[in-house]
Amino acid sequence: MSQRIFSGIQPSGSVHIGNYAGALRNWVELQKNHQCIYCIVDYHAMTMPYDPAQMPQRVLDAALDILACGVDPERSLLFVQSHVPQHCELSWILGCTAPMGELNRMTQFKEKGERVDSVTVGLFTYPVLQSADILLYRAGAVPVGEDQLQHLELTREIARRFNARYGDTFPEPKPVLTPSPRVMDLSDPTRKMSKSVEGSTIMLSDSDEVILRLIKRAVTDVGPAGDEMSPGVKNLFTLLEATASPEVVAKFEADYASKSLRYGDLKAALSESMLATLRPIRERRAELAANPKRVLEILGDSARQCRKMADETLAEVRHKCGLGAGL
Ligand code: TYM
Repeated sequence: MSQRIFSGIQPSGSVHIGNYAGALRNWVELQKNHQCIYCIVDYHAMTMPYDPAQMPQRVLDAALDILACGVDPERSLLFVQSHVPQHCELSWILGCTAPMGELNRMTQFKEKGERVDSVTVGLFTYPVLQSADILLYRAGAVPVGEDQLQHLELTREIARRFNARYGDTFPEPKPVLTPSPRVMDLSDPTRKMSKSVEGSTIMLSDSDEVILRLIKRAVTDVGPAGDEMSPGVKNLFTLLEATASPEVVAKFEADYASKSLRYGDLKAALSESMLATLRPIRERRAELAANPKRVLEILGDSARQCRKMADETLAEVRHKCGLGAGL
């Protein structure tokens, strides 16, 4: 059996094209040959201020987007993190070997810490919970965008420390990147695209009109022209790679190399490939949204299977750590 795959996404409203290009398209691809476990990480979403009344809808929206992208519940598991509270137990256990100095260096912690009045312990230990998510299922590979590489490196470090202290238990999981692991913001292509920036992020649920407007307005040249491709144009190529055929990408790369590239043509091709990619996703999403009961069933069935796997790992972990019964 090939190695097990695990990945997660925060339920933060609509999924955007960066999530798709950097991670979700690999989630779908990897299902063909691997056992895949995908998680909507609501415990993680609690690390930033939020409205509890909105959380259930956010989770359902994330599930709809993920299934609409092509994650197949017949092949893969898709569950909600808080339905498997074992993640928290392993997080505590791993936290007792995780080095505080390394957590302090996490760039996501530093960035998010600057956005809140008071930094919580939850925000600080976020990457330990992420390590627990992955290690609980002994996943060997984790499809993520580039921004998660540091957390993955920490997960490997935590696995090594645990194995050294308590005996070989966890594999060291490797990241799996797409060719477009870092999609940038359309109006400020020096900044990573994220859900928190409205008006320059393409959401999977956006209408054709909105998508066309966002691409039309996307920044191309910023700063003085040099020999290097500008960040805006580079980002358009990134998005083209994620949505168009290799032939289309090769044609525009050749135009760029021969200095005959017209940004208008590039944007027109990108608009076409983006609409062609997102339309069927939007249609599938609408079909799924008409039957939320089915979606909840999928999440419930998956959680049941995950709890079973989680219990098996935890029984071994508790035993190795000298915890619980046995006295
Ligand atoms: P999240 O919810 O921010 O993002 C979900 C996935 O999308 C990728 N991504 C991007 N890729 C390319 N360009 C972008 N602009 C872009 N923005 C987001 C992310 O890298 C990610 O793969 N901490 C994680 C969630 C998590 C997790 C896990 C992931 C919790 N536990 C265990 C893997 C394994 C996060 O906040 O992702």
